[in-house]
Amino acid sequence: MTPPRLGHLAYDGRPMTASTSAAHVPVDTLVDWLQHAWAHPAAGEAALPIGARLTQQIRRAILDRVVPPAHRLPSTRALAQALRIARNTIVPVYEQLRAEGFVVAGQGSGTYVCRIAPEALPAVAKAAQPADAPRAAAPLAFSRRGRRYHSHPLHEFWTRQPFCPGQFDFELFPHRLWNRLQQRQLRRADPIQLEQGEPGGAPELRQAIAEHVRATRGVRCAPEQVIITDGTGESIDLVARLMCDPGDAVLLEDPGYWAATQVLSDHGLRLRPVPVDAHGLPVPALRQGERAPRVVYLTPSNQFPTGGVMPLARRLEWLQFAARHDTLLLEDDYDSEYRYEGAPFPSLQGQDAAGRVIYLGTFSKTVYPGIRVAFLVVPPGLQRVFADASADFYRDGDQIVQQVLADFMREGHYAAHVRTLRREYALRREAMLRALAEALPREFATQRLAVVSGARGVHLTLALPDDVDDRAVARDAIAHGVTAIPLSVYAMRVGWRGLVLSFAATPPAQIAPLVSALAPVLRNALARAGSLSSS
Ligand SMILES: Cc1ncc(COP(=O)(O)O)c(C=O)c1O
Repeated sequence: MTPPRLGHLAYDGRPMTASTSAAHVPVDTLVDWLQHAWAHPAAGEAALPIGARLTQQIRRAILDRVVPPAHRLPSTRALAQALRIARNTIVPVYEQLRAEGFVVAGQGSGTYVCRIAPEALPAVAKAAQPADAPRAAAPLAFSRRGRRYHSHPLHEFWTRQPFCPGQFDFELFPHRLWNRLQQRQLRRADPIQLEQGEPGGAPELRQAIAEHVRATRGVRCAPEQVIITDGTGESIDLVARLMCDPGDAVLLEDPGYWAATQVLSDHGLRLRPVPVDAHGLPVPALRQGERAPRVVYLTPSNQFPTGGVMPLARRLEWLQFAARHDTLLLEDDYDSEYRYEGAPFPSLQGQDAAGRVIYLGTFSKTVYPGIRVAFLVVPPGLQRVFADASADFYRDGDQIVQQVLADFMREGHYAAHVRTLRREYALRREAMLRALAEALPREFATQRLAVVSGARGVHLTLALPDDVDDRAVARDAIAHGVTAIPLSVYAMRVGWRGLVLSFAATPPAQIAPLVSALAPVLRNALARAGSLSSS
């Protein structure tokens, strides 16, 4: 018989006879050992089902050399009697150990222990550990970018409680309507729903989005230019992969959206943070011989997180800059639906005649955060490659959700839902402003505290004086049951201090009591800093 070889495990070729094993080890060694192990299982073994526990214990006996290679295993009947378990539990255990290469069936009858190459022992031993066994080894080290991600200060503050960004109000969602649309799609039972969709996303959804952004944001596009992704991070990732090389310069708003910064820097781009002003990101004057950035990331309709709006003149300046230097403008229009006063500025993309703008949109803030549907609108000529790359790198997302969302948009429900949210969010924003003004009148009157964000979006941005440690304030706020994200965690070089408070998920009546919990935290921090600076 050719000795079976199973990777690192092999029968050692010695004749497998009872006398071989009997010569070295008494026949019942394994039975004795298993009886003891059965009564005193190792950590993690006791919770296993009987078969898995026995398999693990025989593996352990073999790896620990309780029995040598070529040792004959007891018959299933003998082992069943010794351990007082059913014989038909043991048969599959031996089969499993054979499949894993720990034992081998001998000629004629009997099952024998294989020889295990010594160099394979540690690896095999680890693989054979039960899944929940404690691991002694130190964890693998993270990469530099892994460490950068892990050490980002935002993680400390992102606590799911009132005023935390990224949450929504379950009560405001039209569940019955959505369920009806979902049921209708499921009843269609179209095979395409369960397959990988078309590159770029469901055509119906791309069409619906194109119509929506044309009508509401002045975006100029054909449906084919719309590429569906599963979030803004993925949209930016796609742009970085297809349009940038490591070492290319990227201009970023400072303070700015940390996920964009993270993705772009992970692609090896050189980050050039530029301080924003009340009108968003100013257009830089390039020094003599200075290379223009390859990409500029912008949130012109509601600068994240400070809340500035870019006026028309600056938008045109950016478009000229982009056309002149072949720079790509990434326009993140993440919450432009929520504007509570005046007419919105149309998108930058809609004014771009040179094809230098990629527009980014998302449904996280208008449908629900877990939907994971976002999109890019790419300039004409780029759509084929973007669609194919999106399908190759990340696949095309849940086709049923995309179809349901397409119906939701085409039948007018999306526009109606956004109108409802806009009305409701305006009330919540008012309630938060009023509660803050009532709770902290002196702090606002002395301008130690100011609301810098405008009548837009789903959060308020409060500015604090430079002598206030916004992270300490945020920690204190979290301890008082309110999440406030310190503005400084979004900054790279600038020294902005302040707090970001989201009002989207909190009904108006609950806002004042929560602001009352936050107010003493702010009052004390401002008073402490004031007395320190005057002493
Ligand atoms: C600036 C900005 N862009 C985009 C998004 C949305 O990202 P996503 O589409 O991954 O949910 C957010 C969410 O807070 C944001 O703040």
